Amino acid sequence: MARQAQVTLKSPAEQRAMRVAGRLAADVLDMIAPRVLPGITTGELDRICHDFIVDVQKAIPAPLNYKGFPKSICTSINHVVCHGIPGERQLRGGDIVNLDITVIKDGFHGDTSRMFLVGDCSVQARRLCSIGFEAMWLGIRKVAPGQRLGDLGHTIQQYVESQGYSVVREYCGHGIGRGFHEDPQVLHYGEPGTGLEIEPGMTFTVEPMVNAGKRQVRLLGDGWTVVTKDHSLSAQWEHTLLVTTDGFEVLTLGSADRART
Ligand code: MF3
Ligand code: CO
Ligand code: CO
Repeated sequence: MARQAQVTLKSPAEQRAMRVAGRLAADVLDMIAPRVLPGITTGELDRICHDFIVDVQKAIPAPLNYKGFPKSICTSINHVVCHGIPGERQLRGGDIVNLDITVIKDGFHGDTSRMFLVGDCSVQARRLCSIGFEAMWLGIRKVAPGQRLGDLGHTIQQYVESQGYSVVREYCGHGIGRGFHEDPQVLHYGEPGTGLEIEPGMTFTVEPMVNAGKRQVRLLGDGWTVVTKDHSLSAQWEHTLLVTTDGFEVLTLGSADRART
């Protein structure tokens, strides 16, 4: 197993800053949700999010220029697994699209993504999105001090595979804080009782990528866009979490989910 030498525990002040960053990332998704409609291009969605993050939130869109990524958000449509680059592509009825938002506020990152159903989608597409959502939450609900990351990964993998779908292995959740991608790696598959022990003060993401077909992926020539090798549909949801003394706090709940608790 890879060493996890750099897992930082966030101080109370750092936790407060992570709450702010997480809230802002969720606010971007709440803001853009009503605009995710047939006819809009992914480039327009990117521009609207960029301007909101910079001008309204006075924050920084973390993807922009991150390791050379050219845009402010990731837009991953249908068989695109993750890291889709916004551009000229118009959304069409029947598409499923993941919008992945990461903002930096006062030096700390908040990272969250959701699936959007564009117009009328097939039963299969809707089922994939809801199974991916449930898989993320099953993993999140495993987060508590004394649990191990393998418990979380195993739970997600078991559930997804029991539904006839597959979990992508090449990309994973991650610690987050002053860094976009910190240790530990949060795999969405694994064995119970293995992996790093979860401790209060850790902040990390859970962001399973679930394929309708086989788990294998391919990187396109742009160096970013990840697609399913078999061109099957793929879905992903992501939250940023803080480990508390008795469980977890989700830092990136949208306003609807905040109202529910
Ligand atoms: N937001 C993605 C994640 O969940 C990372 C995107 S990196 C980018 O980790 F450069 F593609 F933006
Ligand atoms: Co992430
Ligand atoms: Co993300």
